[in-house]
Amino acid sequence: MERAWILLGMMGSGKSAVGRGLAELSGRPFVDTDILLQNRFGRPVSQIFQVYGEQTFRDHESSILRTLEPGEYVLATGGGIVMRESNWDELHRLGTTIFLKAASETIIERLEQSKKRRPLLETENWQERARAILESRLHLYEQADIVVSVDGLELDTAPTKVLNAIRSVTP
Ligand code: S3P
Repeated sequence: MERAWILLGMMGSGKSAVGRGLAELSGRPFVDTDILLQNRFGRPVSQIFQVYGEQTFRDHESSILRTLEPGEYVLATGGGIVMRESNWDELHRLGTTIFLKAASETIIERLEQSKKRRPLLETENWQERARAILESRLHLYEQADIVVSVDGLELDTAPTKVLNAIRSVTP
């Protein structure tokens, strides 16, 4: 059966960058739920939050998942997708879930370099907030089929590590 490879993890863990690399390595197309949401709204994620609020964003995030079919593609997801129990049913329907596990220090470092705006971190002490979010979600991310530690990995080596991890557990 054709299974998507679905990347889960915190903001800044490298889902989009690793996902693109993985897509290139494997020849699979790359799909990103945040990009699908942006296309649906015609606005960046930060504006969807600002104009419609988080609840609406989450409702559409779930609905985007429901529109997808299983297949041979790489799917990067928004960091909060793991919070809704019903999203997990969709994720399991679509494919194999892979948690890109990164320590809070790694995440903070990457977020400092990232150009993407993160509405949940638009606060003065965003580092503390990022740590708290990671702590509250870790047990959810850990439910993924595969866990790959990406600490200390460059973005050009991470996709190979993820691909090897996938190949070692899937036929
Ligand atoms: C979110 C993560 C973001 C985006 C939104 C909410 C979260 O995606 O979906 O800002 O709740 O962790 P990234 O994980 O790609 O930053």
